[in-house]
Amino acid sequence: MTQPEPASSPTRNPGFAPDTVVVEIGRPQRVDGASVNPPIDLSSTFVSAGDILNSPYAYARFDTPAWTPFEEALGQLEHASLPGLVFGSGLAAISAVISLVPAGGTLIIPTHSYQGALASAEQIAGRQNFDLVTVDIADTEAVIAALDEAGHATAGQVPEEETVASAGDADGWTASATAGEAASPGMLWIETPTNPMLEVADVPALTAAAKDRGFLVSVDNTFATPLLQTPLDLGADIVVHSVTKYLAGHSDVVLGAVVTSSDSLREELHTERSMRGGIAGPFEVWLALRGLRTLAVRLDRAQANAQVIAERLAAHPAVVETRYPGLPNDPGHARASAQMNGFGAIISFTVATADKATAIAEAVRLWTPATSLGGVESLIERRRRHPSEPATVPEGLIRLSVGIENLDDLWADLEAALA
Ligand SMILES: Cc1ncc(COP(=O)(O)O)c(C=O)c1O
Repeated sequence: MTQPEPASSPTRNPGFAPDTVVVEIGRPQRVDGASVNPPIDLSSTFVSAGDILNSPYAYARFDTPAWTPFEEALGQLEHASLPGLVFGSGLAAISAVISLVPAGGTLIIPTHSYQGALASAEQIAGRQNFDLVTVDIADTEAVIAALDEAGHATAGQVPEEETVASAGDADGWTASATAGEAASPGMLWIETPTNPMLEVADVPALTAAAKDRGFLVSVDNTFATPLLQTPLDLGADIVVHSVTKYLAGHSDVVLGAVVTSSDSLREELHTERSMRGGIAGPFEVWLALRGLRTLAVRLDRAQANAQVIAERLAAHPAVVETRYPGLPNDPGHARASAQMNGFGAIISFTVATADKATAIAEAVRLWTPATSLGGVESLIERRRRHPSEPATVPEGLIRLSVGIENLDDLWADLEAALA
């Protein structure tokens, strides 16, 4: 009996629309008797006679067939020329990418990034001895000024043999600066829309400015997902995801991923993953691929709900401010319309005081008061209850992760809590 080929992704067909791609990619070869879904491969080791470096799989900390279908799927969805890399969590992915910043260089990061990314960046900057600069990522001029300042400050300071990405090779980057090449002055980190303030960065303008000055650009695409935004098409070098959120979509997995079209960057990030060793489990990755199948329909429904809820919140007397890029008067609306295929399903709104915000989050019956986002169920949270949330986030700010429940039920519950 012939064994079905374990290889996945028979359908790298650029003609398919993204909502078909999420259903079709990462499936086993279509031969008689093959599974429709990839099996969960639990092996920790694989047959690898001879040259271990040339084995497709050798040891599951380096690579495993359990990851391949999801990695190929995400690479294709992000319009990368290479498969993605899964990590044990979004923050593990973020830390691996931030670790690429060279000693003596600068990481420019949004003031209102996901607070875990900020905390991680601070810790890695201290250990690796690079500068950390926070900026309002929606203020393009301020970001360019920060790039200029960081570029001047680090000129000549980065050791040439430092193992960092630097401008130069066919991909645009080499894994390590060699004598005679200018080492990278650092990295611009973009999160858009930001968590939880929902500021929208001008990604094409920022990536162009950063590239001109030799900076790597990484984009956290968690809020948008590749269905709404493909940062590599907008000039970014690296895309990062908390797969925990929309991609997996059911609040039952913690997982992260990185995607790039640069061989050298992928190699460096792969090494980082293998050497640190905090890898993803086979079952989590399998669940993430299963979640990905319904990403398009989940997002459609959640976004439609979010648009109406944001409009109603904006008109509600108890609400001081509503931020949602889908609102025509939102400061990020024009940019989001230009670079995204939709506005996502996260809303932030502010009420007068922290106590009022807490009372609302406690009064809801259908919305779940919980942290995280991107699952099918609607979540509500006053963000400043996290001591690590930046002080510039208003005390009365509530973040909503709008799910796929019935719109009238969601609004009735929220309206009652607001009252
Ligand atoms: C935008 C964003 N990026 C990254 C992360 C971190 O992801 P994880 O919790 O999977 O480590 C989060 C978590 O909330 C997030 O909101």
